[in-house]
Amino acid sequence: MKISASILAAKLTELGSTVPAYDPAAIDLMHMDVMDGNFVPQISFGEALCKEVRGLTPIPLDVHLMVSKPENHVAKYYELNPYCITFHIETTDFPVRLAQEIKNNGAKVGISLNPGTPVSSLETVLPYVDLILLMTVEPGFYGQKFIVNGMEKIRKAKEWIGSRPIELEVDGGVNETNIQELKKNGVDIVVVGAGLYKTGTPVENAKKLKTLVSN
Ligand code: DX5
Ligand code: ZN
Repeated sequence: MKISASILAAKLTELGSTVPAYDPAAIDLMHMDVMDGNFVPQISFGEALCKEVRGLTPIPLDVHLMVSKPENHVAKYYELNPYCITFHIETTDFPVRLAQEIKNNGAKVGISLNPGTPVSSLETVLPYVDLILLMTVEPGFYGQKFIVNGMEKIRKAKEWIGSRPIELEVDGGVNETNIQELKKNGVDIVVVGAGLYKTGTPVENAKKLKTLVSN
């Protein structure tokens, strides 16, 4: 199981001194929560900070675009060679074209669903997708609680994926109390914010989480 560190929950002004110490054996991906103050009420950061982080670590970026009309923003991220670029199905009328564009530019294509969006909304885009990112909190903040029917939705998404080569990523409220069940339900990547940054160090916390799901 891969761990994607949500740096939204880190002290952003200290990234220059903290991120170079991240151990790629513990932290697989750098989860970058880009928020535009439109699709979600908050504004976090954009391509400039992502570029800085890219320069601090060899760990690849996992770009999570929480922005309206992602087709107008996505091109700024190609030069960062991210592991994947994920956009929300709720934010665009052109998911197929956008997915093809992302793939043609060398990144994996992720599509994300808010808690209120049914898994069936992916039906027509599945052939174009490399990764599904299920939100298990309403997007906007770190430190929220995993939603009530989250596990059920994860199982449903796994059924839709079937034997397709699509990774399943879960974002929101992941911690030591639910990571084992997430693994059991076939989740490939977990995004962890508060679970890494609240206390201790992110690398030690990531190692502890990995130990819980190591077999
Ligand atoms: C929420 C973000 C998440 C968040 C995760 O809008 O997409 O990535 O930072 O943080 P935790 O793990 O604290 O829920
Ligand atoms: Zn996220």
